[in-house]
Amino acid sequence: MMFTYHSCVLVMILALCTGVTRGQCPEKCHCEGLRVNCRGQKLSTIPPPLPNATDLDLENNLLATLTDDSLRGWQNLTTLDLTLNMLASLSDDAFKGLQNLQKLYLYGNRLRNISRKWFKGLTQLHTLELGLNMLASLPDDAFKELSNLETL
Ligand SMILES: *[C@@H]1O[C@H](CO)[C@@H](O)[C@H](O)[C@H]1NC(C)=O
Ligand SMILES: *[C@@H]1O[C@H](CO)[C@@H](O)[C@H](O)[C@H]1NC(C)=O
Ligand SMILES: *[C@@H]1O[C@H](CO)[C@@H](O)[C@H](O)[C@H]1NC(C)=O
Repeated sequence: MMFTYHSCVLVMILALCTGVTRGQCPEKCHCEGLRVNCRGQKLSTIPPPLPNATDLDLENNLLATLTDDSLRGWQNLTTLDLTLNMLASLSDDAFKGLQNLQKLYLYGNRLRNISRKWFKGLTQLHTLELGLNMLASLPDDAFKELSNLETL
């Protein structure tokens, strides 16, 4: 927790110091090229997409749910960090269309169970973090489509 708190403060200071946000960088976020950092901004919805963005860091926000449309326009993401949010429900198609996604961090949310449908079509996914949730059980075949998955 200390680590998260400190890195959060650091990010906020950096964001204040650099000040400038480029044209299409979402409000409250800090963009470096195609990497979008929105840590610790009390966001309860996914920000509007930066075209072609590859990294979206939403660690330590207030996201509670993802709908089919939440990630629309973010289809170029290779890394999506949703660590330390309040996610309790994800629609089955929440990640649909993120065909390039390689790393998905869901650590520290309120998920009670995992639907195999979330990961359908994420053929590039190789890192998935699900720790510190409220998982009761995983369906045996939750990850059956994820041939590249290496770490849990
Ligand atoms: C997105 O990438 C494509 C090619 O990969 C490029 O043609 C297009 O201009 C990019 N769009 C933006 C808004 O950067
Ligand atoms: C982003 O994704 C779109 C559609 O999947 C693709 O046409 C485009 O080339 C991608 N942009 C980059 C920079 O890879
Ligand atoms: C999720 O858990 C609830 C009970 O907590 C259960 O009724 C439901 O069937 C579960 N869903 C899946 C996809 O396992």
